[in-house]
Amino acid sequence: MAETLILPQTQNREEIYESLFPQIEALLFGEEDFVANTANIAAALREAFGFFWVGFYFVKDNQLVLGPFQGPIACTRIPFHKGVCGKCYTDAQTIIVPNVDEFPGHIACSSASKSEIVVPVFNEPGDIIAVLDVDSDKLNDFSEADKIGLEKVVRLLSS
Ligand code: SME
Repeated sequence: MAETLILPQTQNREEIYESLFPQIEALLFGEEDFVANTANIAAALREAFGFFWVGFYFVKDNQLVLGPFQGPIACTRIPFHKGVCGKCYTDAQTIIVPNVDEFPGHIACSSASKSEIVVPVFNEPGDIIAVLDVDSDKLNDFSEADKIGLEKVVRLLSS
């Protein structure tokens, strides 16, 4: 297994996702452990994009429970109906929040977080088993390119 990510010298997110995807695929190849795989995905995304916070919340104990992450310490448990993560879980679809202060019910684990994207993770039968939360310290930092890139990455967890 490669120990270093090879990343293009560009700020273009599409290009970074394109280069990163096969490397994450290789990292996960032959490993079925969900914690190990989500841990490596969080680390790879943080290294590739320098996001403020990248992590998973697992569907567990009838709520969302903090899983592997990279970044500052975070809230450990989120009820299904709370925050951006809860909304993503309830709607079972990706949510982009350009300005967290304008999202009713946003849970501020850190006041430095300004925008975020939350992506659902499904298992093979199609049940939602986790969410991937990515936070930025810049306003309006996520676009359709991140939605497409991150949804593709988390699909690797269900195959
Ligand atoms: N902001 C999230 C909570 C998780 S932290 O950002 C890491 C939310 O509103 O669900």
